[in-house]
Amino acid sequence: RILKRQMLCRNDIDRLNAPFLAIYDSLIPAEEEKAKQKQLLTLLEKLVCKEWPKARLYLYGSCANSFGVSKSDIDVCLAIEDADINKSEILLRLADIFQSDNLQNVQALTRARVPIVKLMDPVTGISCDICINNILAVINTKLLRDYAQIDARLRQLAFIVKHWAKSRGVNETYQGTLSSYAYVLMCIHFLQQRRPAILPCLQEMETTYSATVDDIECAFFDQVEVLRNFGSCNKETISQLVWAFFNYWAYRHDYANSVISVRTGSILSKHAKDWTRRIGNDRHLICIEDPFQTSHDLGRVVDKHSIKVLREEFERAAYIMQYDPNPCVKLFEPY
Ligand code: CTP
Ligand code: MG
Repeated sequence: RILKRQMLCRNDIDRLNAPFLAIYDSLIPAEEEKAKQKQLLTLLEKLVCKEWPKARLYLYGSCANSFGVSKSDIDVCLAIEDADINKSEILLRLADIFQSDNLQNVQALTRARVPIVKLMDPVTGISCDICINNILAVINTKLLRDYAQIDARLRQLAFIVKHWAKSRGVNETYQGTLSSYAYVLMCIHFLQQRRPAILPCLQEMETTYSATVDDIECAFFDQVEVLRNFGSCNKETISQLVWAFFNYWAYRHDYANSVISVRTGSILSKHAKDWTRRIGNDRHLICIEDPFQTSHDLGRVVDKHSIKVLREEFERAAYIMQYDPNPCVKLFEPY
């Protein structure tokens, strides 16, 4: 019934394109901000290389995957091959180095799940987390950035979805809801599934980029310049896609049996992945396969309580997109 309604209301839905695009535009970081991030990275590189000349710094996460909104913190990965020293020692040494250079709020969190050093640069005002040898994160950042270059609608949809998730309080992994990384993968998978498809499956195409990290082979097609017209047969607009995205997660996704997989560009069965029962803390109540760490379910943070919260939020969003006269306001109302 809802599908029929949508067809009838297509003109209504299309009237929402301008407000959605205006929200998207307002979230894009200014060029000036990018320049400041570069400036901070250069400073950190200089300090780090004095101590470890062969070490390298890489940006990852939203500051480098093109899904970052303005005024975000930056995520940095220190790649260092020195096998003799352990991570905690490196982090503590880094903290010392940064402190002596007048960086502020320097803190080494050596016991965190992902151990990091945090700092704030008083010159640019940017805060930053530095982790060590998280090379898979650097590579999945590249995969996301490459997808974003294929069709502009991915970045638009992901900005709207992330903005919705933050406004509604469902972007908090420590409270059992999903990470930004998981939401972007949901958007990529959703656009791979449209007919005609809006995005291809880069990991199923000819390999033009490959790297092996911790025995995991990461290979995909990265010459995305040649894919710029890939989605052009599909004319769906951003408002239709936002509508369909929430409709999918509210009413159409098979939570009991399905795993979404960007790696294969398809839906896999929980059965095939042996994700049918709870093992330890992994409950697999909503299943999102990591594109490289395929045993890793990004939905594993979700528990019995938070799955309800999430699904109610998807239903609320779908309802608003269907019936609310002013969805661009209602959708993002603080919870
Ligand atoms: N990451 C990962 N596996 C996870 C979560 C995160 O590999 N389970 C890596 C990804 O490279 C991701 C980065 O950590 O891009 C940062 O994750 P997250 O904070 O969820 O995403 P951001 O894109 O930085 O989003 P935000 O704008 O909310 O900071
Ligand atoms: Mg981040």
